Amino acid sequence: MASLRGRSLVSVDELTGAEIMGLLKLAGDMAKAIGFGDSKGARAPMAPLDAILAAMFYEPSTRTRLSFESAMLRLGGQATGFAQSTSSSAAKGESLADSVRIVSGYADLIVIRHPLEGAGRVAVRASKVPVINGGDGAHLHPTQTLTDLFLLQRRKGRIAGLKVGLLGDLRHGRTVHSLAPALARLGAEVVCIAPPQLGMPRPVLKRVAEATGALPPEVTAVDEVVGSLDALYVTRVQKERFEEPGGHQDVVGAYRVDRALLAKAPPEMLVMHPLPRVDEIDPAVDDDPRAVYFEQADGGVPVRMALIAAMLGLHDLPRVTVEERPLNALTPVADVTDHCDNDRCVTVHEPGVPPEFVTFAGETVCAYCERPLREGG
Ligand code: CP
Repeated sequence: MASLRGRSLVSVDELTGAEIMGLLKLAGDMAKAIGFGDSKGARAPMAPLDAILAAMFYEPSTRTRLSFESAMLRLGGQATGFAQSTSSSAAKGESLADSVRIVSGYADLIVIRHPLEGAGRVAVRASKVPVINGGDGAHLHPTQTLTDLFLLQRRKGRIAGLKVGLLGDLRHGRTVHSLAPALARLGAEVVCIAPPQLGMPRPVLKRVAEATGALPPEVTAVDEVVGSLDALYVTRVQKERFEEPGGHQDVVGAYRVDRALLAKAPPEMLVMHPLPRVDEIDPAVDDDPRAVYFEQADGGVPVRMALIAAMLGLHDLPRVTVEERPLNALTPVADVTDHCDNDRCVTVHEPGVPPEFVTFAGETVCAYCERPLREGG
C-alpha cells in the first residue's frame, strides 16, 4: 500500500500515477461517505479527529480555502487560518518562512496560497508539518488538478485516451500548468487553445512532450477543435497576473463558450472550468447537461478529504494499476551564481532564499518558479 503520510504536495509531478489514481479512488470513498451529489442534510457525527488544518491564504479564494476547511471539518478535525495577508503578520513585514515556521507549531497540516511563484517550496522548507500548495501565483495548483481529474474519472470512467482541450489564458493560469502534464502522464491527449499572447509557457509544453513524445498541438480558435474533444477545460483571463495594470483588456472577449459553440461540440463533451468564471462561459450554458463545472467544484471536498487523510496517515492509498508515461526527474545545476529573472518568483522577494536552478528538458530553469533562466518575468 502506498502512503502519503508526512509528505508535502507542491506539484502534482511529485505524485506517481498510481498515487494520483489511488487518491481519486479514496476520494470516491469519501464522496460516498459524505453523500456527494445528494442534498446535504444533517448526518451522524464522525469520530472527532485530533488534528488541525491551518489555511494560510495570502490571495483571495472561495473554493480552495473553503473546501479544504470543509474537508477537514468533515473528517472530524478542526481548521484555523487567515484569508488575506492583511490580517496576518505579513502586514507587519514578517517573512513567509517565519510565518510558516510559526504556524507549523500550531497545526498538523498547512495549506498555503500565495501570489509569489515557488512560495509553496519555501513553505515546505520552513515547516515542521506537511504543506499543501493551494496555488502559487501563476505557477501551479496541484489540488485543483486532483479535483479536475476526479471529475473526469467520475464522468468518463477513465483518463487515458481522453482528448482534453485547454482553453483560455494558458500563459498565466496555474490550473492548466498543473493539469496539462498530469493529463499527459495519465495517457490523455492535450490540445492547447489560446489567443497568441496567452499561449502555454514553453516549459509546460515541454513537460507534456516528455510524457507523450511530442509537443501538444496549439490552436487559437476553439471552433477548429471543439468537435473532436471529450472535454473542454475553460479558464478565465487572469487579469491580476498581467505585467501592466489593465493589460488584459486586449484579450477580453477573445474567446467565449456559448450555445452556438456547444452546437458544434459532441453530445458527450464535458465543459469544465476551475472557476471563478467571469465572462468566458455564457450563463445560458449552465443548463446544458455537458456543463459540469459546478459539480467539478463540489468534488473539491471529497478530493481534499482524501488528500488530508492520506497525508495525516489516516488512510493508505488504495492500490491502483496505472499505465503511466513518466516525467524525467529535474536535476540540480551546480555552480550557478545567477538569479531568477522572474520578478514574481519567491526567490526575488523572500529574504534568505538563495537562487537554485535545475535542468529540465535540456533547459536550466529556476527550481522554485520553473521559469527558464533569462526568460524574464
Ligand atoms: N479554482 C480555485 O482555485 O478557486 P478559488 O480561487 O476560489 O480557490
